[in-house]
Amino acid sequence: MIDRQTVDRILDAANIVDVVSDFVTLKRAGANLKGLCPFHDDRTPSFMVSPSKNICKCFACGEGGTPVHFIMKHEQLTYPDALRYLAKKYHIEINEREQTDEEKAEQSERESLFVVNEWANEWFQKQMNDTVDGRAVGLAYFRQRGFRDDIIKKFQLGFCPDKYDAQWQAAKAEGYNEDYILKTGLCIRNEQGKTYDRFRNRVIFPIHTISGKVVGFGGRVLDSRTKGVQVKYQNSPESSIYSKKRELYGLFFAKQAIVKQDLCYLVEGYTDVMAMHQQGVENVVASSGTALTHEQIRAIHRFTENITVIYDGDAAGIKASQRGIDMILAEGMNVKLLLLPDGDDPDSFARKHTATEYQQYLAEHQVDFIRFKTNLLLEEAQNDPIKLSRLVNNIVDSLAVIPDEITRTFYIKETSQMLSIEERIITAAVVKVRKRLREEKQKEREREASRQQASATTTPTAPVADVPEVTDAPPSFETTTPIDAPYIDLPPIGGTEQAVLPEEGLSTKRRSHEEEHVIQTERLLVQMLVRHGEKVMCNVEDENGEEQPLHVIEYIHLTLQDDNLQFRDPLHQRILNEAVEHAQDEDFRCTRYFENHPDEAISALSIELAHDKETLSKVHSKGGAIPPEEERLADILPHLMIDYKLAIVEETLRHIQQELRNPSTRNNREQLQRLMKEFQETKQIQKELGHQAGDRVLMKS
Ligand code: CTP
Ligand code: MN
Repeated sequence: MIDRQTVDRILDAANIVDVVSDFVTLKRAGANLKGLCPFHDDRTPSFMVSPSKNICKCFACGEGGTPVHFIMKHEQLTYPDALRYLAKKYHIEINEREQTDEEKAEQSERESLFVVNEWANEWFQKQMNDTVDGRAVGLAYFRQRGFRDDIIKKFQLGFCPDKYDAQWQAAKAEGYNEDYILKTGLCIRNEQGKTYDRFRNRVIFPIHTISGKVVGFGGRVLDSRTKGVQVKYQNSPESSIYSKKRELYGLFFAKQAIVKQDLCYLVEGYTDVMAMHQQGVENVVASSGTALTHEQIRAIHRFTENITVIYDGDAAGIKASQRGIDMILAEGMNVKLLLLPDGDDPDSFARKHTATEYQQYLAEHQVDFIRFKTNLLLEEAQNDPIKLSRLVNNIVDSLAVIPDEITRTFYIKETSQMLSIEERIITAAVVKVRKRLREEKQKEREREASRQQASATTTPTAPVADVPEVTDAPPSFETTTPIDAPYIDLPPIGGTEQAVLPEEGLSTKRRSHEEEHVIQTERLLVQMLVRHGEKVMCNVEDENGEEQPLHVIEYIHLTLQDDNLQFRDPLHQRILNEAVEHAQDEDFRCTRYFENHPDEAISALSIELAHDKETLSKVHSKGGAIPPEEERLADILPHLMIDYKLAIVEETLRHIQQELRNPSTRNNREQLQRLMKEFQETKQIQKELGHQAGDRVLMKS
């Protein structure tokens, strides 16, 4: 547990622009910044970041919040872990209270797997750097391949010794839960119940998330064994933290350079990424040998619009990547391609050239996809009309998926020039393909709808992606993990809708007009609480005749208590309870506390209340310069309180009237009398409240 003071320091330090920029490229948009939403499939920037309010929000999907909530959602962390993340980012030392056993048990599986992986990452590196075998075998392997020590260190490369279960024994000795060790896939239990190390006698490439946490590992056999029966690369299996389809190797190390260069190179392998870093090209990621996925493209798109795919020149690879190119185009991004000579891959190419030559080659040889396809296929086609028309169709298929019309037109022109075909012919072909794609998508939607009806489940499924399947599924690399394991999307975060409109959805029965009014006036009180709770409203005399400050929290709490009232909306009442509970805490600030509240519903409501200007002016609209709200607390609050009580009284009166009209009540003399009395009394209260309200108005004018 993190103590309150530290939490406050973290919340004060966390800057929304800073925090979001680690994951999304933001551009100025007036007083705000905007970028592509990381929480849904966003093509046009819908994600707004407000530096002044220190919050973010997606106008399309509604996700967002304070820095701590952004991290919770994006990194799938619990509240305390999101705070730890921010503490680390801002170099704030955390005073952790000892965790109780209960708290330890509550740590989620995901977090536990991360903890095990973090340990394993250190362990692999130690095995390589601090053991005789590790240095002679593992480190020597990397050095032989030409990697410098600083690159080896940067990518946290390691080694797993050639022993049956060295890591398993070490992990258990460290006290890690067996179940979690197995779930990370670091160790494997066979049918005889024996447990052994997955990566034994392999060099290790840790795989990091966008924020640098280790989700899995790739292990390569040493050269001598490559030609043997063993699979060259073993990867961590799919788990609750690792999905091969979602990760891009190297993104964590590349993201800053990608933003700076406004370009991302895409290569195939771990060693390609490392070799390019060594040559001074740091804006590079690897798809790790699988077909490019939509999720991976989206991850790149958050940082740049431009991708250059680097090919190692074998024809099979290029054909397989057709679909990837079309997916990038369909995402609305610009794609260039680059062919390395003589079947070199970026890694082997690096070994033959200096850094300057390397960078120069990259700069000079990237071409757009049309030129690339044309160059590649024209030779093959030569004067063969069938092959030639296949080439044209191939390009047309790519042109058709480009979402932006201007871009599309531009490329149609280029195609027309390159192939000496009239523009209108290409345009017509593109239109035809687009129509077909639309129809296919429509059919897919209908199929989806009928599937949903058939299964009659209430779980919402993702909308059909806007990316048409243009060609057949590409051949996959030999991998140790199924590449089409279901993609685990971020789970929907609950509470947002409820929080934005808290007066709705609390109960399904319709509220009366009076009831509605009670909740509305209540909300205004809560708004003052969230904005000014800890501030002094006025001074009051205590029993000894001494002036004592009265805080907003106290005023609301005590006034309600006097009349035995509780807030109607449970969320409102929870906010009040917590405010009362923390009122005495040193440095307690309601806005900071509630906006950053771990409970999504409270946080969302508080953000809304804290920043909504509308209701403010409604409370007191007087001509001339209005002093700031906090200077008028003694004025505004009693007013709001009377309004609130009046609303309750009106509601009560309506209930009594309804009862009185009820025939069964009318026949019951006793009950009738009781209700009449109650009605009179309530009427009296209403009158008094009305006077009070009037007095206040008179006093002021
Ligand atoms: N890959 C994989 N599993 C395999 C083969 C390949 O995960 N069985 C992934 C790895 O990420 C690898 C990438 O696909 O880096 C490219 O594979 P390949 O070209 O075969 O390997 P290289 O990166 O060239 O590796 P090396 O240079 O070490 O041979
Ligand atoms: Mn290679």
